[in-house]
Amino acid sequence: MQLTAEAMQLSSLLDRFAEPETLKMAKLGRELRARGIDVIDLSLGEPDFDTPQHIKDAAKKAIDDNWSHYPPVAGYPDLRAAVCTKFKRDNDLDYKPENIVISTGAKQSLANIIFALVDEGDEVIIPAPFWVTYSELVKMARGVPVILSTTMENKFKISAAELEDAITDRSKVFLFSSPCNPSGSVYSKDELEALANVFRKYPQVFIISDEIYEYINFVSRHESIASFEGIKERVIIVNGLSKGFAMTGWRLGYIAASPEVAKACEKLQGQFTSGANTIAQRAAITALTTDLRPKKW
Ligand SMILES: Cc1ncc(COP(=O)(O)O)c(C=O)c1O
Repeated sequence: MQLTAEAMQLSSLLDRFAEPETLKMAKLGRELRARGIDVIDLSLGEPDFDTPQHIKDAAKKAIDDNWSHYPPVAGYPDLRAAVCTKFKRDNDLDYKPENIVISTGAKQSLANIIFALVDEGDEVIIPAPFWVTYSELVKMARGVPVILSTTMENKFKISAAELEDAITDRSKVFLFSSPCNPSGSVYSKDELEALANVFRKYPQVFIISDEIYEYINFVSRHESIASFEGIKERVIIVNGLSKGFAMTGWRLGYIAASPEVAKACEKLQGQFTSGANTIAQRAAITALTTDLRPKKW
């Protein structure tokens, strides 16, 4: 006898969030292409170049050198150190390996953080438009997404006053991306400083700064909100190799956070994935220690 979906009594967790619209669209695109239809697929953020040769060579060497065993849950120590080198080189930010957790893509990094921070009923402020996964992860964690709308006139960015108006006693996290997917907006240093001035007044609010599009920025120099005094320990930077290094399929992301938040993410990850793919981790060391920044900034 075939059970109906209702009779199977799957977890109610599944009703709390939606499938990623982007992945649904990508699946449809693949199906249409397989039927010979010429589709322009704008669903996934796929770079228009392939993984650079020196990174691929590092991965091949890692296979030959037998980097094939379980990695430490938070990532290889020399990769965590390479991430610190990248933060110093590109963002003038000082982090130690204990601040870094390597994950299976920035998506897992975000999931780890949200589950580490959000309790039932906690509010997570998200400026719209936003990457579709943000709100769904919050709902999975039983949090409440509070969506702040933006306008074209303000280049799809929020002001300090709008942020402050949205903060309540239940606010736990502010979650945004700059450069933003999908709007492409980039917050300037002054705009971030204005937001940082608000966060200084609300010490219970964590800031998740998704910087995965750092290197795909058509507007201005990339700035991180973690560079402002007095809030850095509450900022969690999310970044990864997918976009800047055209490594979407390698699934490698990372965070920089306080040691306490990093430990919490490591604990969750220890049960979910046991850590990120070893070959991708070894290749990421080569990627991150090679300066690929556009020279014009
Ligand atoms: C804003 C944003 N954050 C995070 C991710 C996830 O990236 P990853 O491939 O590292 O999981 C994406 C992917 O499209 C994205 O657009």
